[in-house]
Amino acid sequence: MARRTLPLPKRLQPAPKRPGEDDGATRLTPAEAGITVVDWIDERMSMSGGIRWMLFRKVPRGINWAYTLGSATMFAFLAQAVTGVFLAMYYRPDASGGAYDSIRYITDDAFLGQFVRGMHKWGASVMIILIFLHMARVFLFGAYKYPRELTWVIGVTLLILTLIMGFTGYLLPFDQRSYWASVVGININGTGPFIGPYLSDFLRGGPEFGATTLSRFYAIHMLLVPGAIIALIGAHLYLVTKLGISAPPWVRAESQTDSMAVIERARTEV
Ligand code: HEM
Repeated sequence: MARRTLPLPKRLQPAPKRPGEDDGATRLTPAEAGITVVDWIDERMSMSGGIRWMLFRKVPRGINWAYTLGSATMFAFLAQAVTGVFLAMYYRPDASGGAYDSIRYITDDAFLGQFVRGMHKWGASVMIILIFLHMARVFLFGAYKYPRELTWVIGVTLLILTLIMGFTGYLLPFDQRSYWASVVGININGTGPFIGPYLSDFLRGGPEFGATTLSRFYAIHMLLVPGAIIALIGAHLYLVTKLGISAPPWVRAESQTDSMAVIERARTEV
C-alpha cells in the first residue's frame, strides 16, 4: 500500500525565493536547518533506529506507578553524578587537613556549595531507598523470573556498587565521624570469611588507616564504581528493552501460557 506523505508544516517549508536568487530551495529556515543537522548526524551515526527501539516500545496492560521506580533510581544516580562533578571541582583528597578544609570551604564559602553538598548527601540516601523499593517491586511482581534472571543479577551488582558508593563517600569529609565510621566499616569487612583480612588490607591500602586509605576511597568513589555503574545501567536497560517489561502478576497473558510468544508478538507489531 502506498504511503501517504503529508506536506511539511508551514514553519518548516523553505523560505520563499528572493529576487535574483537561483534556487530558493537551497536556503533553509532555522527550523529546517535544525532538522538537517540532526539528519546530517544521523546519516553518519545511524542512531535514530536504536533510539526509536529504546523509546518507542509497547508496555503491558495494567502497569502502574511502581514501574517508575527503576527510572527514578536512574535519575537519582544522574543527580548524584552532576552534583558530584561540582563537588569534585573544590574537593581535595588530602589527609593532612586539606580534605576537611575543602569541605568546609564548599559548605561555608563556595557559591551554592552548601546546597550542592546537601543535594549530594541527601541524594545518596534517596538513591539507596529507591533502589530497594525498585528491587522490592521486581521481587513482589515476580519480574526476576525467566527470561529476566540476568537483569536481576545485574541489578544485584548495581545494588552492591551503590552501597559501595555510600561507604566510600562517607569517608571523604575526613572529620571525626567519617574517620571512625570508616575504621569500624573496614574492621567489619575484615571479619568476613577467607577474603575478609585481604579485603580490609586492600581498603586501608596497607596495615595502617591514613592518607592512602583516603586517596583509595576517593579513586573508588570518583572513578572505579561510577564507571562500573554507568556500564551496568547500560546493560540493565538494554535487557529491559530487549525483553520488554513484565506484566503485573494480576494481568494474564492473553489466552497463552508462553509469555515469550506474547513478548515476541508485541515487539514485531511495533
Ligand atoms: C542503579 C540501579 C538501577 C537502575 C538505574 C535500574 C533501572 C531499571 C529500569 C529503568 C527498569 C525498567 C522500569 C522498571 O521496571 O522500573 C528496570 C527493570 C528491572 N530491574 Fe532495575 N535498576 C536498578 C537496580 C536494580 C536492582 C537492584 C534489581 C534487583 C536486584 C533490578 C532488577 C530489575 C529487573 C528484574 C527489571 C525488569 C522488570 C520487569 O521487566 O518488569 N534493578 N530497572
